[in-house]
Amino acid sequence: MKGIVLAGGSGTRLHPVTRAVSKQLLPVYDKPMIYYPISVLMLAGITDILVISTPVDLPAFQRLLGDGSELGVRFSYAEQQAPNGLAEAFLIGAEHVGDDTAALVLGDNIFHGQNFSTILAHERARLEAEKGCVLFGYPVRDPGRYGVGEADEAGRLLSIEEKPERPRSNRAITGLYFYDNDVLDIARGLTPSARGELEITDVNRAYVARGNARLLDLGRGFAWLDTGTHESLIEASQYVQVLEHRQGVRFACLEEIALVKGWISPEQALALGERQASSGYGAYVVDVATRALSTSS
Ligand code: G1P
Repeated sequence: MKGIVLAGGSGTRLHPVTRAVSKQLLPVYDKPMIYYPISVLMLAGITDILVISTPVDLPAFQRLLGDGSELGVRFSYAEQQAPNGLAEAFLIGAEHVGDDTAALVLGDNIFHGQNFSTILAHERARLEAEKGCVLFGYPVRDPGRYGVGEADEAGRLLSIEEKPERPRSNRAITGLYFYDNDVLDIARGLTPSARGELEITDVNRAYVARGNARLLDLGRGFAWLDTGTHESLIEASQYVQVLEHRQGVRFACLEEIALVKGWISPEQALALGERQASSGYGAYVVDVATRALSTSS
């Protein structure tokens, strides 16, 4: 499975904060926002990840993430020339996906919950066996702000609507999508919506029409956090800060995930931590690597 992180957009709801900096590079407590969605793909076992952003912002993502080799993964980069919609990710990323399956995650979506790795591995295996698509639903108070899905008892998606005035359920469709390879053809056949964008909801509708779209509910014990406004951005930071401080762990620590997945050695993780050891995040990487060294020797 190939990964795509879409980190475009102009972030107008966060102006002036995002006038000179991409939204997805803003800090969510101790790390740049894009670490969170990248961690989701890495937790799903995906090592080949395309980052898509605007021509102006893309170099900053490259400076931050490099080619991925230090983490035992591969990051590649592509430009989205204009905000033409989320589904354009599959036109821009067609070559990257090739004949594989694909996971798309939006660069401003933050997920946190127990056993997420297991859930992701399970859904990925199911997608690869059964084809179609897997969407992840989350109950929210204000579903009309999102894509909203309605599913039967077995989790088969029956309908999906984008920002409906009268939502049929309280289940928002989160910004994480698993697709079979047909997504490339479906995206090629799309026409722009009334707001002039290639809509991801139209891609998902095509799968609903074929009867092979599944909706997996991330329950209320999960956190799916918004970062779209000044308030929600600071709330996300506070959420991460409170839990990290209480538990003594860090979420979305890419070095730790690479280590746990066996993509880098404890020695390599230690070097990555030492390079940034004057920050709490870096010190944590040093800690995790040192513990792994002592158990491996
Ligand atoms: C997009 C999708 C929407 C989805 C949301 C998740 O909306 O169109 O279906 O629920 O991401 O973050 P946007 O944030 O672009 O308005």
